Amino acid sequence: MGTDTNRLDDRLERILFDQATIRSCIAEMGAKITADYAGGDLTIVAVLQGGVLFLADLSREIRLPLRMDSISVASYHGGTSSSGTVTFHQNHLPDVEGRDVIVLDDILDSGRTLAAIMERIEAECRPRSLRSAVLLSKQVERAIPIEADYRGFDIGDEFVVGYGLDYQGEYRNLPMIGVLKREWIGGGE
Ligand code: IMP
Ligand code: MG
Repeated sequence: MGTDTNRLDDRLERILFDQATIRSCIAEMGAKITADYAGGDLTIVAVLQGGVLFLADLSREIRLPLRMDSISVASYHGGTSSSGTVTFHQNHLPDVEGRDVIVLDDILDSGRTLAAIMERIEAECRPRSLRSAVLLSKQVERAIPIEADYRGFDIGDEFVVGYGLDYQGEYRNLPMIGVLKREWIGGGE
């Protein structure tokens, strides 16, 4: 079947954050959330699909009873820049009335995705408190001025993959975060 030249890691031009760096960043964030929410009723709402790896690792660093839920949206439609519209893939919103909620996503870019989700949860779910956590925060001028309450790393304005972040649905399973070689980006851009 596959050949060595098809190795996923070889498709990266540059690694921004390796597995160990991501792990220690998440451990630190988990400790902070553990301290901040002691005695609370925490539900983490992960944004699918990108937030799944982050949820799996962060939740195991939070030493509190908590619930997990998810919400499915899309703002990219296959390319390397945001489409400008946020589509909710479900009508059902998490049942978090009266609970302390953290919405968790892989990356904050234009701000549209996080803002749209926070707005809907606030308006329709009546949480007791509402905050956000992202692993990456792109340092760009946002379409909607929003910053995450918990954030792992700041990055520049470049398209990254790995650790939940995809390009056309792939690369989410890379354990590190990096920039794709140009030869792997293309078609329909
Ligand atoms: P925003 O709505 O522009 O803030 O975009 C947030 C969403 O766009 C995230 O949930 C990601 O799915 C996606 N996204 C933004 N930047 C990147 C990137 O560099 N690589 C992969 N996905 C990204
Ligand atoms: Mg996403």
